[in-house]
Amino acid sequence: MTNDRHAQIFFFLAPFCFDCSLFYIICRISPSARRHGRTRSLPFDANTPLSYILLAPKDKDHYSPILDLERTLYTIIEHYLTPKQRSLFGTLPQDIVPAENEDTPATNHLRMLRRAVALCDGPLFIRTLDSINALLRMLKYPPLPSDAFAPPQPNALRAAVAGWSATGLPRSVALRIVEETYQRTVGPRTHELNHYQAFSDSVYGELMPSLVSRLLSLARARPGTLLLDLGSGVGNVVLQAALQSGCSAFGVELMEKPAEMACEQRAQMRMRAGMWGVRMGDVELEQANMLESSRVNELMARADVVLVNNKVFGEKLNEAIRPKFLDLKEGALVISLEPFVVGGGRAVTERNVDDISAILDVSAHDYHSMDVSWASGTGKFYVHRVDRAGYADVRARFEAARSTRSTRSR
Ligand SMILES: C[S@@+](CC[C@H](N)C(=O)[O-])C[C@H]1O[C@@H](n2cnc3c(N)ncnc32)[C@H](O)[C@@H]1O
Repeated sequence: MTNDRHAQIFFFLAPFCFDCSLFYIICRISPSARRHGRTRSLPFDANTPLSYILLAPKDKDHYSPILDLERTLYTIIEHYLTPKQRSLFGTLPQDIVPAENEDTPATNHLRMLRRAVALCDGPLFIRTLDSINALLRMLKYPPLPSDAFAPPQPNALRAAVAGWSATGLPRSVALRIVEETYQRTVGPRTHELNHYQAFSDSVYGELMPSLVSRLLSLARARPGTLLLDLGSGVGNVVLQAALQSGCSAFGVELMEKPAEMACEQRAQMRMRAGMWGVRMGDVELEQANMLESSRVNELMARADVVLVNNKVFGEKLNEAIRPKFLDLKEGALVISLEPFVVGGGRAVTERNVDDISAILDVSAHDYHSMDVSWASGTGKFYVHRVDRAGYADVRARFEAARSTRSTRSR
């Protein structure tokens, strides 16, 4: 690493390194940076390549387009290519690589790209990415065979997607699309989500993709499943669900800003799913009060999974939601951050035997650190299963006990 190189790249990035948020910085990109500072990666099926602005965020927690580009590239290479095709690109970070001080062969494009990032060497980065793009282009649009009667070679990336019909969309591909979508729609506007009334039902917070992913497996969501999110915010859960599992999803959100961002995210994700060559389930969004929405009432009876991130919902709202679960079908799940039923298992007592919570069999589960946006530690979520058959048994036992008592007292 030479100081010259540093100076070169520092000059390259310096106009954007104001002490302010990254998205402000992007707005102020200079004309010369526009010329040199944009680079492209070719994801799956886009005729228009994706553009990334080459700049380093000032704060390590801010969005980093270079990191985003690298992750997208690694996901494409890992999941869309055969080992033989992959070897054309060089080594992924998780591959066992020779000692760092060894020379990197120019054909190890991925390692060269990491070196360019580490050295802040913009021109090397662009050159290497050009070589990578040329390889991707060749795999997507293979040259026509010299024999005019030979069948044309297929688009290698499309072939990979066809292979997922049995196994489902790889989790990392789904999470990459979720992240790309969020960063390009909600990311620049997160400050707008802070205009809430403190201690109200509308305080904003999100389940992170890692937790949503776990909930989808737990609920065995698949095409044909219907998931409702009551208080769907920016649509993060419904969109990830529809993408990752292919289920249909419906989200209702009271507040205007998050509801608006949810619509933007949906449009962006549909476009991206197309670029990555994958299909997603239907997503319906409504801006309304969940307690007044006739669509919520209509869909409740068909829902397989109802998510309620009620971490900050007041008792009044939680109480008002509970009767809605009466319409749920047998076996449906209600997943929430605060329990709708107090106590573990089927907490039926003589006092609440007529209460609707008696049809819910509840279990508590741990979420891990970084699984929710409002706290970095661990916590609990609750899965309630509608079990009317079990409830009928319990109720019959209570009825029997009641009639024995009344016979004795006579
Ligand atoms: C904590 S956020 C959850 C976002 C998303 N469901 C998640 O878990 O990542 C809860 C959302 O519920 C919304 N909300 C509160 N009361 C509501 C109501 N009566 N009807 C619809 N949405 C409501 C809030 O505005 C907020 O956006």
